[in-house]
Amino acid sequence: GLEIGGAVAGGGHHLDQDYPPPFSEDEAYRDLLASEFTSLTPENQMKWDYIHPEPDVYDFEAADDIVAFAEENGQDVRGHTLVWHSQNPAWLEEGDYTAAELREILREHITTVVGRYAGQIDQWEVANEIFDDSGNLRTEENIWIRELGPGIIADAFRWAHEADPEAELFLNDYNVEGLNAKADAYYALVQDLLADDVPIHGMGMQAHLGTMYGYDTSLPQNIERFGDLGLTTAITELDVRMELPADGAPTPEQVAEQNEFYEFVLTSCLEAPSCESFTLWGASDLYSWVPHTFEGQGSATPWTEDLERKPAYCTLQQTL
Ligand code: XIL
Repeated sequence: GLEIGGAVAGGGHHLDQDYPPPFSEDEAYRDLLASEFTSLTPENQMKWDYIHPEPDVYDFEAADDIVAFAEENGQDVRGHTLVWHSQNPAWLEEGDYTAAELREILREHITTVVGRYAGQIDQWEVANEIFDDSGNLRTEENIWIRELGPGIIADAFRWAHEADPEAELFLNDYNVEGLNAKADAYYALVQDLLADDVPIHGMGMQAHLGTMYGYDTSLPQNIERFGDLGLTTAITELDVRMELPADGAPTPEQVAEQNEFYEFVLTSCLEAPSCESFTLWGASDLYSWVPHTFEGQGSATPWTEDLERKPAYCTLQQTL
């Protein structure tokens, strides 16, 4: 019953990276997405700067393509994302709006975007990365929390629920895999939201891992405590990057480490009744965000740049 998901790269008119737009043009990549996954997450195409580029302009083209593709292939879609501090358009971040106007902008955006895909998106990552690693709300960075206060999180969930009562609504973040201050902050927030009857249904753990950082072995306990609150849990953006040697090829030790990381996360999810979805951030190294974001790092996904299966792929398959 576990959904196996992949992030879909490319498409859209606001590409912020220097790799080609594969989704619409790369048949081999589309075949891989169609055959290996039961769930898809648009990697960028539903973010504010893609889908809402001007105050009165929505651009749904790239997102529509992915939703239609998923429908054709009988796949779930995870919507990503509605409230975030990053990849917001300049008109929003630099605009001179009153609090009342901003509130209406967010309400209108959520109603429009969630409403457009009502019945087609199974899970929405409503709020993304709202706490820092110390467990404090990103009060400075996140325009919504800064200008409207922390209560806006609950409102975002309420608006999303109104627009699509069937969608499962998630919080989502990185570095919340283990039992740590940031995960504790989410745990407390979820309890508050549930006490206030806010429609929240899931906790997403991104799991952007790196072999050089190790992994937190308390992931199973952390998943379990969110499950005990009645939430669905999900691994939403798993990749395992590494510092690449000069020749660009991972060493046998790195390959073995990467296998172990993938196996650990998948096992943790498989063994938890609450964990219903397991998404990889990138189907192949070719379109992985890692080399563009972390200098000298790469080889983070289970497929090579030629879309060949790596040992990590076999490890995942055997673990399943
Ligand atoms: C990343 C994408 O993979 C990149 O293509 C983009 O340039 C930046 O964002 N956490 C998230 C994702 O929630 O949206 C981020 O995706 C990776 C970290």
